[in-house]
Amino acid sequence: MAIELFNNGKHACLMFNDLVDGEKSDAVQANQFLIVSDGEGTLIDPAGNITYNALLLAMNKYFPHKNLKYILASHQDPDIVASLNKWLFGTDAQVYVSRLWERFVPHFTTQDRSVNRLVGIPDKGTVLTLRDTRVFILPAHFLHSEGNFHFYDEKARVLFSGDMGASLVHHSLVEKPITGAAEFKSHIRTMDAFHRRYMVSNKACRLWANMARQLNMDFLVPQHGRYFKGKEAIGAFLDWIEQLQCGIDLFSQDDYRIPA
Ligand SMILES: [Fe+2]
Ligand SMILES: [Fe+2]
Repeated sequence: MAIELFNNGKHACLMFNDLVDGEKSDAVQANQFLIVSDGEGTLIDPAGNITYNALLLAMNKYFPHKNLKYILASHQDPDIVASLNKWLFGTDAQVYVSRLWERFVPHFTTQDRSVNRLVGIPDKGTVLTLRDTRVFILPAHFLHSEGNFHFYDEKARVLFSGDMGASLVHHSLVEKPITGAAEFKSHIRTMDAFHRRYMVSNKACRLWANMARQLNMDFLVPQHGRYFKGKEAIGAFLDWIEQLQCGIDLFSQDDYRIPA
Protein backbone atom coordinates (compact mmCIF):
# COMPACT_ATOMS: atom_id res chain seq x y z
CA MET A 1 0.00 0.00 0.00
CA ALA A 2 1.29 3.42 -0.90
CA ILE A 3 1.41 6.16 1.71
CA GLU A 4 -0.22 9.38 0.43
CA LEU A 5 1.91 12.23 1.74
CA PHE A 6 -0.17 14.77 -0.19
CA ASN A 7 -3.14 14.58 -2.53
CA ASN A 8 -5.40 17.42 -3.57
CA GLY A 9 -6.91 15.52 -6.50
CA LYS A 10 -4.64 17.21 -9.01
CA HIS A 11 -1.25 16.85 -7.37
CA ALA A 12 -0.12 13.84 -5.35
CA CYS A 13 3.03 12.72 -3.54
CA LEU A 14 3.23 8.99 -2.89
CA MET A 15 5.63 6.88 -0.89
CA PHE A 16 6.16 3.13 -1.29
CA ASN A 17 7.64 1.65 1.86
CA ASP A 18 7.13 -2.11 1.73
CA LEU A 19 8.53 -3.26 -1.61
CA VAL A 20 11.88 -4.36 -0.18
CA ASP A 21 11.26 -6.80 2.60
CA GLY A 22 14.14 -7.63 4.90
CA GLU A 23 12.43 -10.94 5.75
CA LYS A 24 12.56 -12.13 2.15
CA SER A 25 16.03 -10.81 1.29
CA ASP A 26 19.10 -9.38 2.96
CA ALA A 27 18.51 -6.00 1.34
CA VAL A 28 17.94 -2.94 3.51
CA GLN A 29 14.40 -1.54 3.66
CA ALA A 30 14.05 1.36 1.21
CA ASN A 31 11.35 3.88 0.29
CA GLN A 32 10.55 4.91 -3.29
CA PHE A 33 8.55 7.99 -4.30
CA LEU A 34 6.20 9.14 -7.02
CA ILE A 35 5.01 12.69 -7.71
CA VAL A 36 2.01 13.02 -10.01
CA SER A 37 0.92 16.46 -11.11
CA ASP A 38 -1.99 16.92 -13.48
CA GLY A 39 -0.96 14.09 -15.82
CA GLU A 40 2.82 14.42 -15.46
CA GLY A 41 4.88 12.08 -13.29
CA THR A 42 8.29 11.82 -11.63
CA LEU A 43 9.77 8.80 -9.93
CA ILE A 44 12.36 9.42 -7.19
CA ASP A 45 15.04 6.94 -6.11
CA PRO A 46 13.44 3.88 -7.75
CA ALA A 47 15.89 1.45 -6.06
CA GLY A 48 17.34 -1.80 -7.38
CA ASN A 49 16.31 -4.80 -9.43
CA ILE A 50 14.62 -6.59 -6.52
CA THR A 51 12.13 -3.70 -6.31
CA TYR A 52 11.45 -3.12 -10.00
CA ASN A 53 8.43 -5.41 -10.59
CA ALA A 54 6.72 -4.52 -7.32
CA LEU A 55 7.25 -0.78 -7.87
CA LEU A 56 5.95 -1.03 -11.42
CA LEU A 57 2.75 -2.68 -10.19
CA ALA A 58 2.33 -0.33 -7.24
CA MET A 59 2.94 2.91 -9.17
CA ASN A 60 0.71 1.99 -12.09
CA LYS A 61 -2.31 2.24 -9.80
CA TYR A 62 -1.57 5.98 -9.71
CA PHE A 63 0.27 6.74 -12.92
CA PRO A 64 1.19 4.79 -16.08
CA HIS A 65 4.95 4.23 -15.95
CA LYS A 66 5.24 4.69 -19.73
CA ASN A 67 4.33 8.37 -19.27
CA LEU A 68 7.00 9.21 -16.67
CA LYS A 69 8.67 12.51 -17.50
CA TYR A 70 11.58 12.29 -15.08
CA ILE A 71 13.35 9.73 -12.94
CA LEU A 72 15.46 11.40 -10.25
CA ALA A 73 18.36 9.71 -8.49
CA SER A 74 19.69 11.34 -5.32
CA HIS A 75 23.01 9.56 -5.82
CA GLN A 76 24.59 6.52 -7.45
CA ASP A 77 24.06 3.76 -4.88
CA PRO A 78 22.55 0.35 -5.79
CA ASP A 79 19.56 0.89 -3.48
CA ILE A 80 18.89 4.14 -5.37
CA VAL A 81 19.23 3.30 -9.01
CA ALA A 82 20.58 -0.20 -9.74
CA SER A 83 17.32 -0.82 -11.68
CA LEU A 84 18.32 1.91 -14.15
CA ASN A 85 18.51 -0.46 -17.11
CA LYS A 86 14.93 -1.63 -16.66
CA TRP A 87 13.53 1.89 -16.23
CA LEU A 88 15.37 3.10 -19.33
CA PHE A 89 13.91 0.19 -21.26
CA GLY A 90 10.38 0.54 -19.86
CA THR A 91 9.96 4.34 -20.11
CA ASP A 92 10.98 7.36 -22.18
CA ALA A 93 11.86 9.35 -19.05
CA GLN A 94 14.96 11.48 -18.69
CA VAL A 95 17.06 10.28 -15.76
CA TYR A 96 18.67 12.95 -13.59
CA VAL A 97 21.77 12.11 -11.58
CA SER A 98 24.78 14.12 -10.37
CA ARG A 99 27.25 15.09 -13.06
CA LEU A 100 29.82 13.29 -10.91
CA TRP A 101 28.02 9.97 -11.53
CA GLU A 102 26.69 10.55 -15.04
CA ARG A 103 29.41 8.39 -16.61
CA PHE A 104 29.45 5.80 -13.82
CA VAL A 105 25.77 4.78 -13.59
CA PRO A 106 25.75 3.55 -17.25
CA HIS A 107 27.60 0.53 -15.80
CA PHE A 108 24.14 -0.49 -14.50
CA THR A 109 22.90 -0.64 -18.10
CA THR A 110 23.36 -2.83 -21.15
CA GLN A 111 24.37 -1.86 -24.66
CA ASP A 112 23.85 1.81 -25.42
CA ARG A 113 20.63 2.15 -23.46
CA SER A 114 21.71 5.20 -21.47
CA VAL A 115 22.85 7.27 -24.46
CA ASN A 116 20.93 10.59 -24.59
CA ARG A 117 18.77 9.52 -21.65
CA LEU A 118 20.85 10.78 -18.70
CA VAL A 119 21.03 14.38 -17.53
CA GLY A 120 24.01 15.29 -15.34
CA ILE A 121 22.95 17.63 -12.53
CA PRO A 122 25.49 20.41 -11.88
CA ASP A 123 26.81 20.76 -8.33
CA LYS A 124 24.61 23.78 -7.62
CA GLY A 125 21.40 21.86 -8.47
CA THR A 126 18.53 23.02 -10.66
CA VAL A 127 14.73 23.41 -10.81
CA LEU A 128 12.37 21.19 -12.82
CA THR A 129 8.69 21.68 -13.49
CA LEU A 130 5.79 19.23 -13.39
CA ARG A 131 2.92 21.23 -14.89
CA ASP A 132 2.72 24.25 -12.56
CA THR A 133 4.73 22.68 -9.72
CA ARG A 134 8.40 23.37 -9.20
CA VAL A 135 10.59 20.48 -8.07
CA PHE A 136 13.86 21.81 -6.66
CA ILE A 137 16.98 19.67 -7.00
CA LEU A 138 18.97 20.77 -3.97
CA PRO A 139 22.67 20.23 -3.25
CA ALA A 140 23.31 17.69 -0.49
CA HIS A 141 26.89 16.76 -1.29
CA PHE A 142 28.80 14.45 1.06
CA LEU A 143 25.50 13.43 2.72
CA HIS A 144 26.58 10.81 2.07
CA SER A 145 27.71 10.65 -1.54
CA GLU A 146 30.21 13.15 -3.02
CA GLY A 147 27.66 14.13 -5.67
CA ASN A 148 24.33 14.05 -3.86
CA PHE A 149 20.97 15.82 -4.23
CA HIS A 150 17.65 16.10 -2.44
CA PHE A 151 14.30 16.88 -4.06
CA TYR A 152 11.78 19.42 -2.83
CA ASP A 153 8.19 19.43 -4.04
CA GLU A 154 7.07 23.02 -3.54
CA LYS A 155 3.34 22.31 -3.75
CA ALA A 156 3.25 19.36 -1.34
CA ARG A 157 6.00 20.92 0.82
CA VAL A 158 7.85 17.63 0.89
CA LEU A 159 11.63 17.32 1.04
CA PHE A 160 12.83 13.93 -0.20
CA SER A 161 16.10 13.73 1.68
CA GLY A 162 17.78 10.56 0.38
CA ASP A 163 19.92 8.93 3.06
CA MET A 164 19.70 12.03 5.32
CA GLY A 165 17.34 11.19 8.16
CA ALA A 166 17.40 7.49 7.33
CA SER A 167 16.51 5.02 10.07
CA LEU A 168 17.00 1.29 10.01
CA VAL A 169 13.64 -0.16 10.95
CA HIS A 170 11.26 -2.84 9.65
CA HIS A 171 9.00 -1.63 6.83
CA SER A 172 5.90 -2.16 8.97
CA LEU A 173 7.05 0.69 11.25
CA VAL A 174 7.50 3.15 8.39
CA GLU A 175 3.83 4.07 7.92
CA LYS A 176 3.67 6.06 11.14
CA PRO A 177 5.50 9.40 10.90
CA ILE A 178 7.56 11.02 13.66
CA THR A 179 5.50 14.06 14.68
CA GLY A 180 6.90 15.44 17.94
CA ALA A 181 10.18 16.34 19.64
CA ALA A 182 9.79 13.68 22.36
CA GLU A 183 9.10 10.98 19.78
CA PHE A 184 12.10 12.20 17.80
CA LYS A 185 14.31 11.73 20.86
CA SER A 186 13.42 8.06 21.17
CA HIS A 187 13.83 7.64 17.39
CA ILE A 188 17.49 8.80 17.47
CA ARG A 189 18.75 5.32 18.40
CA THR A 190 17.55 4.00 14.99
CA MET A 191 19.46 6.74 13.11
CA ASP A 192 22.54 7.46 15.18
CA ALA A 193 25.01 4.77 14.09
CA PHE A 194 24.00 5.13 10.43
CA HIS A 195 24.59 8.89 10.33
CA ARG A 196 27.83 8.73 12.31
CA ARG A 197 29.36 6.33 9.78
CA TYR A 198 27.68 7.16 6.45
CA MET A 199 27.62 10.98 6.64
CA VAL A 200 30.93 12.56 5.79
CA SER A 201 31.34 15.44 8.25
CA ASN A 202 29.63 17.83 10.61
CA LYS A 203 30.50 20.74 8.29
CA ALA A 204 28.40 19.22 5.49
CA CYS A 205 25.52 18.54 7.93
CA ARG A 206 25.59 22.13 9.20
CA LEU A 207 25.69 23.79 5.78
CA TRP A 208 22.88 21.54 4.58
CA ALA A 209 20.72 22.25 7.66
CA ASN A 210 21.12 26.02 7.06
CA MET A 211 19.77 25.53 3.53
CA ALA A 212 16.99 23.15 4.61
CA ARG A 213 15.69 25.65 7.20
CA GLN A 214 14.85 28.05 4.37
CA LEU A 215 12.32 25.58 2.92
CA ASN A 216 8.68 25.62 3.88
CA MET A 217 8.46 21.94 4.81
CA ASP A 218 5.50 19.88 6.01
CA PHE A 219 7.34 16.59 5.47
CA LEU A 220 10.96 15.49 5.48
CA VAL A 221 11.06 12.02 3.96
CA PRO A 222 14.22 9.90 3.88
CA GLN A 223 14.87 6.95 1.59
CA HIS A 224 15.09 4.45 4.48
CA GLY A 225 12.81 4.12 7.47
CA ARG A 226 10.38 6.55 9.06
CA TYR A 227 9.56 10.08 7.93
CA PHE A 228 9.11 13.37 9.77
CA LYS A 229 5.86 15.32 9.69
CA GLY A 230 5.34 18.87 10.91
CA LYS A 231 7.56 21.72 12.06
CA GLU A 232 8.31 20.26 15.53
CA ALA A 233 9.71 16.92 14.34
CA ILE A 234 11.51 18.45 11.34
CA GLY A 235 13.01 21.15 13.59
CA ALA A 236 14.17 18.50 16.07
CA PHE A 237 15.86 16.57 13.27
CA LEU A 238 17.66 19.68 11.93
CA ASP A 239 18.81 20.60 15.45
CA TRP A 240 20.17 17.07 15.94
CA ILE A 241 21.92 16.69 12.59
CA GLU A 242 23.65 20.08 12.65
CA GLN A 243 25.49 19.26 15.86
CA LEU A 244 26.29 15.63 14.99
CA GLN A 245 29.95 14.65 14.80
CA CYS A 246 30.20 12.10 12.01
CA GLY A 247 32.36 10.56 9.30
CA ILE A 248 35.84 12.05 9.16
CA ASP A 249 35.18 14.03 12.37
CA LEU A 250 35.40 10.71 14.22
CA PHE A 251 38.28 9.07 12.35
CA SER A 252 41.81 8.97 13.64
CA GLN A 253 45.04 7.13 12.87
CA ASP A 254 43.52 4.19 14.73
CA ASP A 255 41.10 3.69 11.83
CA TYR A 256 43.94 3.51 9.31
CA ARG A 257 46.09 0.66 10.52
CA ILE A 258 47.28 -2.42 8.70
CA PRO A 259 45.15 -5.31 10.04
CA ALA A 260 46.95 -7.95 12.11
FE1 LIG B 1 23.35 5.77 -0.23
FE1 LIG C 1 20.20 4.55 0.80
